[in-house]
Amino acid sequence: MEYTIKTERLGLRNWKGSDEEPFSEMCADPEVMKHFPKALTKKETISFIRRLQAHFDLYGYCYFAVDVLKTGEFIGFIGLANQTWESVFTPCVDIGWRLKRSAWGKGYATEGAKACLKAAKDKFGIDEILAFATDTNIGSQKVMQRIGMKVIGTVQHPHIQGDPRFKHCVVYKSIMQA
Ligand SMILES: CC(C)(COP(=O)(O)OP(=O)(O)OC[C@H]1O[C@@H](n2cnc3c(N)ncnc32)[C@H](O)[C@@H]1OP(=O)(O)O)[C@@H](O)C(=O)NCCC(=O)NCCS
Repeated sequence: MEYTIKTERLGLRNWKGSDEEPFSEMCADPEVMKHFPKALTKKETISFIRRLQAHFDLYGYCYFAVDVLKTGEFIGFIGLANQTWESVFTPCVDIGWRLKRSAWGKGYATEGAKACLKAAKDKFGIDEILAFATDTNIGSQKVMQRIGMKVIGTVQHPHIQGDPRFKHCVVYKSIMQA
């Protein structure tokens, strides 16, 4: 398997056809999607995968599909994406993650995200990365804090604007060390 980024336990790569089934399953899980307006249908998940593949083809990075190296099991995504929706914080490159429930509590998100921050600078020449999470998504914010990112403000994400549960997104920033 060709991985763009490898860590001790994880391989991060472009998306492939066999990810459609397991990724659709996890994006249909209300617990995984608790901090988003809704769970995704299979059709929505597959079109998300297509957008991620197109992003990878253009830039060499995306929210990467993640495998556990030891078993080859696909567990979700960790990666970087160009964000162009309108706000004072954009355009920017952000870092994000979504793992299936059985992969939580093992340090995988933190391990993959650390490697993505390093690759952002060393491989892709990106000096500044932002991250967005709803203010209630403490688990995701803990990952941001563990990889050294700092809060720089709050924003109303246009994709979740209509949903009062997600009124504020907290914005984190990471400045790459020279
Ligand atoms: C956000 C998300 C990836 C965080 O998962 P997570 O398992 O809490 O984060 P990590 O993978 O970094 O694992 C850290 C946890 O594993 C524990 N852990 C166990 N073994 C570990 C190891 N070998 N190394 C490091 N940490 C380990 C840590 O103690 C920590 O647990 P704690 O938070 O209770 O202290 C996950 O909750 C998720 O996919 N949520 C749904 C999607 C989502 O909301 N995405 C973010 C949108 S902004």
